[in-house]
Amino acid sequence: MALRMKAVKIAVVGTGYVGLVTGTCFAESGNDVICIDKVASKVEGLKNGIIPIYEPGLSELVIRNHRDGRLTFTTNLAEGIADAEMVFIAVGTPQGDDGGADLRGVWGVGKEIAENLKSPKIIVIKSTVPVGTNAELARRMSEYTKVPFQVANNPEFLKEGAAIDDFTKPDRVVVGVRTPDVAARLHVLYKPFLRTERPFLVMTPESAEMTKYVANCMLATKISFINEMANLCERYQADINDVRRGIGHDQRIGFAFLFPGVGYGGSCFPKDIRAVIHMARAKGIPSRMMEAVDDVNESQKDVLATKILKHFGDKAAGKTVAIWGLAFKPRTDDIREAPALTLIDQLLAAGVAVRVHDPEAIANVREIYGDKLSYSDRPYGALEQADALAIVTEWNEFRNPDFKVMLALLRSPVIFDGRNLFDPAQMEKLGFTYEGIGRYVAHEPVSA
Ligand SMILES: NC(=O)c1ccc[n+]([C@@H]2O[C@H](COP(=O)([O-])OP(=O)(O)OC[C@H]3O[C@@H](n4cnc5c(N)ncnc54)[C@H](O)[C@@H]3O)[C@@H](O)[C@H]2O)c1
Repeated sequence: MALRMKAVKIAVVGTGYVGLVTGTCFAESGNDVICIDKVASKVEGLKNGIIPIYEPGLSELVIRNHRDGRLTFTTNLAEGIADAEMVFIAVGTPQGDDGGADLRGVWGVGKEIAENLKSPKIIVIKSTVPVGTNAELARRMSEYTKVPFQVANNPEFLKEGAAIDDFTKPDRVVVGVRTPDVAARLHVLYKPFLRTERPFLVMTPESAEMTKYVANCMLATKISFINEMANLCERYQADINDVRRGIGHDQRIGFAFLFPGVGYGGSCFPKDIRAVIHMARAKGIPSRMMEAVDDVNESQKDVLATKILKHFGDKAAGKTVAIWGLAFKPRTDDIREAPALTLIDQLLAAGVAVRVHDPEAIANVREIYGDKLSYSDRPYGALEQADALAIVTEWNEFRNPDFKVMLALLRSPVIFDGRNLFDPAQMEKLGFTYEGIGRYVAHEPVSA
């Protein structure tokens, strides 16, 4: 008789971008999942099929798995963990006042789990946490319980905007464990997602904690690197797009993650890079590269405002700028540390009126700025009576716009493109004043 895989009973604490995706994907592969969040309105909404975040494909999966009884929601942690064999912690670990990760959420949840532990469980930290957190959580929890438990680390590498795909078809799964038994049980859980020979990498919790940070440091480094090179190209009449092609074919370098832009944002890179700087300082060693990466990124967030205000000169006050794209990246509504917010602040401070459009993030931006901005449901609506357009997020719907309509709507045909969506030569031909990041149009023909 063929062995049937048994559904695992799982609790996930924290129902945000990571927790909700994790819980839903584990339910989708047949497990019994209960998602726990302290925000009652979020839990109530989820019970009624209202998804608190925008993530492509998520809504359908949540609704289906909830309907089929594999995915439930509660605010009551004691009740939520009672039957679970594994409890995943996916609460936020934001930047603290000292630059390091603020772990109060993790400690608080750990204490609550320990106080309510009635049977042995595996506690899995999915939040991004500094090295030593697994060990410290185990130590803290053991002060509140005599029931045996194990703490493991399972960093999450999903990207917002492609989270379901990333979770269900991961490049790799990393687990940090103290015993082979815990690794084996996590392997069973992940097996449905590893069928295309994706690696399941077992290491210590310390190495797993470090792996997550090192991955983000590498990715952020690539972004700051190409941004710095793009700025240099601009000053020397070189075109970063040509340069990108020139380096990308070198297999040691490649093309991935080397697109110049307006700097990285979001809830991960900025805080994780600063957490690493903080971790290094705590051991008395400088993290010169990560300090530079962070520094370069902070100034890159100013790049569009600098170009726009230079263009208007002393006539900036009273002008109107349209912004396309507010989310820190396409296919999400997340605006945490989004470069668009820096641009908005700088334009408003200069007396510029701002009209904004984003396919998903308007509600979040409205919560911050209220009636200080004009909001438009449609990209073209934002252009009406605008003296320039700034493109901040590379949503697909911005890639192929009707330039004739744009020319008709804009008061003056000026585009500052923070994502290099268009060809500068073509834009010039169409009659736009167009500035990308590190782009240069060679007016002399270049022979093939
Ligand atoms: N967002 C990403 O793309 C991403 C990717 C990989 C890793 N991470 C890491 O995952 C972690 C979570 O990130 P996120 O973006 O999902 O955060 P989030 O802010 O979207 O979600 C956190 C959730 O935890 C809930 N919560 C907080 N304290 C709680 C408590 N005591 N009990 C129950 N619920 C509680 C909050 O209400 C919220 O719903 C962070 O450490 C982050 O660095 C995030």
